[in-house]
Amino acid sequence: MTGPAFDVEAIRAEFPILQRQVNGKPLIYLDSAASAQKPRAVIEAMVAAMEGSYANVHRGLHTLANETTEAYERARAAVARFVNAAAPDEIVFTKGATEAINLVAATFGRRLGPGDEIVLSEIEHHANLVPWHILRQARGVTLRFAPVTEEGAVDLDALEALIGPRTRLLALTHMSNVTGWIAPARRVADAAHAVGAHVLFDGCQAVVHRPVDVQAIDADFYVFSGHKLYGPTGIGALYGRAEVLADLPPWQGGGEMIAHVSLDGVTYADPPHRFEAGTPAIIEAIGFGAAVEWLSRQDRRAIETHEQALYRRVVDGLAGANWLRMLGVSPGKGAILTFEVAGAHAHDVAQLLDRYGVAVRAGTHCAEPLMRRFGVTSSARASFALYNTEAEADAFVAALQNVQGFFA
Ligand SMILES: Cc1ncc(COP(=O)(O)O)c(C=O)c1O
Repeated sequence: MTGPAFDVEAIRAEFPILQRQVNGKPLIYLDSAASAQKPRAVIEAMVAAMEGSYANVHRGLHTLANETTEAYERARAAVARFVNAAAPDEIVFTKGATEAINLVAATFGRRLGPGDEIVLSEIEHHANLVPWHILRQARGVTLRFAPVTEEGAVDLDALEALIGPRTRLLALTHMSNVTGWIAPARRVADAAHAVGAHVLFDGCQAVVHRPVDVQAIDADFYVFSGHKLYGPTGIGALYGRAEVLADLPPWQGGGEMIAHVSLDGVTYADPPHRFEAGTPAIIEAIGFGAAVEWLSRQDRRAIETHEQALYRRVVDGLAGANWLRMLGVSPGKGAILTFEVAGAHAHDVAQLLDRYGVAVRAGTHCAEPLMRRFGVTSSARASFALYNTEAEADAFVAALQNVQGFFA
């Protein structure tokens, strides 16, 4: 049960889109792991910036430029507080988690070469695989992959056995977008630090569902996206520990990331601006700041309890369904249900559920190696967010049972 601390109807009232119908049915949005809906606080913060105070940041001496710069930097401070970074300058704004990982691969990775190893896992999203493939092609580094268990967890003993004197980086999901597995972040960070390696966590899913403290887990890098956190698209964050960022070379070159430029050379700005070349996503950053502030005002423990209760309600509702295979049943996992319906293609399942107003994702979930591990080419995924209700969970179970009838 979700307890009195959490009023889901009050939360829902803050999300205008949840009023709409889909195919003549009330929308049941179970695709928040792909991208979450936006509360009024985010929408209004972005509109207010565009209507009330907008100019380019960091370059002007006029009032609007100063106000917008302050709003942009306030958003950075809000994001820093949200993950308990030691200072706002430890947050680099990026386009999203994908760009943040590419930034690390292109800067931290530029100094690596043959003989250096990066430890990853089979569970990773393509965002935390492909940048390292590119680095392997460019620099000849070795990639090592920890396997995934039948339960959909990274095999921690195997992971720790891969970490050795040649390891330069451990890059691991904090929470799987497919199986919901949650990494014991501090434990694996300690294992990597013990051999002098750095640690990057892909926090895209984890930050949404539980408070993250980058200092407590001793992360060197932590990446996440605004749009999964009830914020806008086109913005995300790279947290980097101050001394780690200070030591990195620049990535993209252009305006704003320099100290001085002459025809003979260039000196670079300090982090985070060193990594924010060109005009940034100003309005999106302001929306991102509004999103994390809005989420921080909620009772996050109550949200997690609520989301877990919805997940359990669906799992219990589907108990005994011999036509259902769940991918990911590890203890303590997050509120994501990835599944296969016997005899049905996941795309068909998703399209049929849409007729009931239920939005789920289907495909590889940008995790092809993991699909291969489970021996499937695609699967469907229902992901639960703070605005979903018990009635929606029940309606989803009923709709899925009906849909399965088409394939029985
Ligand atoms: C675990 C994980 N990592 C990385 C990403 C990539 O995020 P984005 O597309 O916002 O850069 C996602 C998005 O689906 C994700 O779930």
